[in-house]
Amino acid sequence: MRRAVPFAYALFVTPSALAAFNLAKEYSGASFFNGWDFGNGTFDSTTHGHVNYLNQSSATGQKLAYVNDAGNAIVKVDDFSFVAWQDKRNSVRLESTDFFPVGSVIVFDATHLPFGCSVWPGFWTKGPTWPQGGEIDIVEAINLMGKNQMALHTQPGCNQPANPPQSGSTVGSDCSSGTDSAAGCAVLDAQANSFGGDFAAAGGGVWATQFDETGVFIWFWSRKDIPDGVTNAQDTIDPTNWGTPSAAWPASDCDVNKFFTPQQLVLDITLCGDWAGQPNLYQSTCGGTLGNSTVDVCYIDNVINNNGTKYHDAYFEISSIKVFTVNNTVFTPTVTDGTTVLSSATATPDAQSDASGSSSGNGTSANGTSTGGSGGNGALPAGAAAYAAMVGATALAAFSWVLL
Ligand SMILES: *[C@@H]1O[C@H](CO)[C@@H](O)[C@H](O)[C@H]1NC(C)=O
Ligand SMILES: *[C@@H]1O[C@H](CO)[C@@H](O)[C@H](O)[C@H]1NC(C)=O
Ligand SMILES: *[C@@H]1O[C@H](CO)[C@@H](O)[C@H](O)[C@H]1NC(C)=O
Ligand SMILES: *[C@@H]1O[C@H](CO)[C@@H](O)[C@H](O)[C@H]1NC(C)=O
Ligand SMILES: *[C@@H]1O[C@H](CO)[C@@H](O)[C@H](O)[C@H]1NC(C)=O
Ligand SMILES: *[C@@H]1O[C@H](CO)[C@@H](O)[C@H](O)[C@H]1NC(C)=O
Ligand SMILES: *[C@@H]1O[C@H](CO)[C@@H](O)[C@H](O)[C@H]1NC(C)=O
Repeated sequence: MRRAVPFAYALFVTPSALAAFNLAKEYSGASFFNGWDFGNGTFDSTTHGHVNYLNQSSATGQKLAYVNDAGNAIVKVDDFSFVAWQDKRNSVRLESTDFFPVGSVIVFDATHLPFGCSVWPGFWTKGPTWPQGGEIDIVEAINLMGKNQMALHTQPGCNQPANPPQSGSTVGSDCSSGTDSAAGCAVLDAQANSFGGDFAAAGGGVWATQFDETGVFIWFWSRKDIPDGVTNAQDTIDPTNWGTPSAAWPASDCDVNKFFTPQQLVLDITLCGDWAGQPNLYQSTCGGTLGNSTVDVCYIDNVINNNGTKYHDAYFEISSIKVFTVNNTVFTPTVTDGTTVLSSATATPDAQSDASGSSSGNGTSANGTSTGGSGGNGALPAGAAAYAAMVGATALAAFSWVLL
């Protein structure tokens, strides 16, 4: 069935044709875990799951975060320790130390996602003063859900228009809905292999998120469907010909520069908590006897009184995460007297240079001049440079609005 293409669709195609997105950061191979902050060993204070997020030395020592023989990063829940009533199970939460501006494409390539009753994984992004500054949920689902659910969470004023150019189905269109915009504007992927056992059985897949002034767009491809330009992307990436995304929030109904600061990447796995542990939702795919308000069936049936036998599938296996930006610019936060300030820096994309060797270039300076890399893309076209400068200026204006 054909659907009329809304005006907003044209809006997003045109600028991406102009803008070259240049590799700013790659997390892969032996150095995958460089450039992330781990937890501090304490509980999940944001979504109230029954986990402790280990610090880097503990997570590494207990092999909850490591690079496997295939060169892929494993991030997992403890599936070998006994956990007693009233205790929590160990898990991992990573936050990138870099923030990526409006004008980025984030490519997440995985062969396995965490799933199972009580399991709630997320690959998502947020600003420095969450929940302000916007949030983009790229990979997120709970329990035995069969499909991935994507979402934006913002302050009031950002919406998804009717009939957006997407293949997924809209769950809610007001991105500020819910307390602290907890519900947001979500889109359920149409593809059955976008989560769970089916995702892994298909060899995994790739999510590409275009986050720029034309809107936010998330594509998901199962392994066999990944376009060449994504699989082979090294120095640059171009979303122009990727077709209809799984989820689309065009800027026609959400001013991206107004609602989003630069975003840091977050990768985590919690157990139960505000979404997965919500009794009716939990029971809808995992059953069990619904107790009463003092008994958390999700916790009792999974987290405790076993040696982690429920968690053998509660792991990410990630080939790479790459972020391409219009300017090769990333941002790092500093906190002075309680105020967070993001400062820009020219990207150093070669974090993986001792690993996969898949990157041949070493980036572009902040003014668009190529700094080397044989076969690299060279300087941005004039149109893209102007576009980049414009995005930079408006994005910077947005920081002060949010951070002060
Ligand atoms: C650890 O992180 C939690 C959650 O962010 C925070 O509440 C707590 O203050 C932190 N503790 C330390 C010692 O940094
Ligand atoms: C990490 O956590 C462990 C266990 O709580 C603690 O013993 C260790 O001191 C922590 N390491 C750092 C660097 O904080
Ligand atoms: C809730 O269920 C637990 C376990 O069955 C029971 O011990 C407790 O008395 C119940 N509480 C209420 C308020 O019904
Ligand atoms: C957990 O593992 C320990 C040590 O191997 C074993 O003694 C215990 O019986 C196991 N508990 C359960 C519930 O399987
Ligand atoms: C761009 O940056 C390069 C490297 O820092 C410098 O050599 C060049 O002069 C700059 N070009 C412009 C137009 O600023
Ligand atoms: C970039 O890569 C080229 C070719 O590999 C190399 O000659 C050059 O020194 C590198 N520049 C930087 C800034 O790393
Ligand atoms: C992109 O580079 C231009 C020229 O150096 C700069 O003025 C602008 O702020 C940059 N944009 C971002 C998003 O960093």
